[in-house]
Amino acid sequence: MSKYKVLVINGPNLNFLGIREPKVYGKETLEDLINKLRKQACELGIELEDFQSNSEGALVDRIQQAYGKVDFILINAGAYTHTSVALLDALSSVDTPFIEIHISNVHAREEFRHHSYLSAKAVGVIVGFGLNGYSYALEQAYHLLEASKS
Ligand code: DQA
Repeated sequence: MSKYKVLVINGPNLNFLGIREPKVYGKETLEDLINKLRKQACELGIELEDFQSNSEGALVDRIQQAYGKVDFILINAGAYTHTSVALLDALSSVDTPFIEIHISNVHAREEFRHHSYLSAKAVGVIVGFGLNGYSYALEQAYHLLEASKS
């Protein structure tokens, strides 16, 4: 039996990983990423759920569905990071700890990417380490959940 449930959420255009601007986002696909995370989750005794959507409302709905059912959320909200009060409100409503992830170093890019609506409520933010950022986030989620038990 898995000890914890972790939900990985990817926002708009992340279904195009591998196609989209490979110099910025790499050549691996979302499927490659999720397969790798599933393997890692299995080794840690975590049940991994994953969700991707290009639509803000669907992302809000998925976060609400996680209420009381998920121990931790890992989220790359893509461009909605920089625009969406609705996602911040959804994450605050379910009161589930979350880590914010960005594949690219948003602070080295256009100024409109420097601000995140989510960061103030995140446990932590991982930026600029490519897809490895998701693995690191999953490992940290595991350690935080273990620590919160004792
Ligand atoms: C991103 C950075 C965002 O600014 C951008 O809109 C994305 C991806 C990243 O992972 O680096 O879609 O979240």
